[in-house]
Amino acid sequence: MGSASGTRADGLVIAIDGPSGAGKSTVAHLLAERLGYLQIDTGAMYRAVAYLMHVDGINPDDLGAVERFCRHIDIRLDRADGCQRVIANGRDVSSQIRTPEMSLLTSRVSALRPVREAMMQVQRRMGARGGVVLEGRDIGTVVFPDADVKFFLSASAEERGRRRFQELAAKGEHVSLEETIEAVSIRDLQDSQRDLAPLRMAGDAIAIDSSGRTIDEVLDTMVSVCMNTLHSVGN
Ligand code: DC
Repeated sequence: MGSASGTRADGLVIAIDGPSGAGKSTVAHLLAERLGYLQIDTGAMYRAVAYLMHVDGINPDDLGAVERFCRHIDIRLDRADGCQRVIANGRDVSSQIRTPEMSLLTSRVSALRPVREAMMQVQRRMGARGGVVLEGRDIGTVVFPDADVKFFLSASAEERGRRRFQELAAKGEHVSLEETIEAVSIRDLQDSQRDLAPLRMAGDAIAIDSSGRTIDEVLDTMVSVCMNTLHSVGN
């Protein structure tokens, strides 16, 4: 794995990649808390771009318009009351970006080159000093190929669909379990078959299957890998 942590001021760069619903956000949050690191939810950043494009009426098929639009987007992640907030062009869009419609649109928008290039630059800047846990699809392969620790977290499509369904039901969204599992499978396909930065595991990533494992079990594995890495680089 990458060995640049000795030169990074604030600690390790930790990448957690994997398909939607594998539990990345939950463990990224807990891992960041445990290490005193910053959590960077890159999916939320792509969702914010999709939301802004939707509001501004930008057609994803018009690459010229997408490119011009990307020159003027400002996406930031803030923390308030222990929750991560997504600020897009100065506006808190944290709840608007989590609807099933935005999930589908984001899958499409995140495949566009100008969008990926703009977000990659922002993410590299955010993580340059280390002390970060970045979660996404292409962190260990494209954004930080020299990340100090890379995890690839997965779970079966049924289990991921079930988890997403429970999250949506808890928020009062009316969707069926079958629909949710289907939506998860469609997004998997879109995310892994696109030309740019498709979802795939980095050769030097540690694979963790979270099906049938508790969050604590997954977290313990990750914490011990990170502690070993910290000790081996002498931080
Ligand atoms: O992790 P999520 O479900 O919030 O991600 C939303 C969408 O963004 C998903 O379709 C994949 C895409 N994404 C991406 O292409 N690259 C990333 N680094 C993170 C997310």
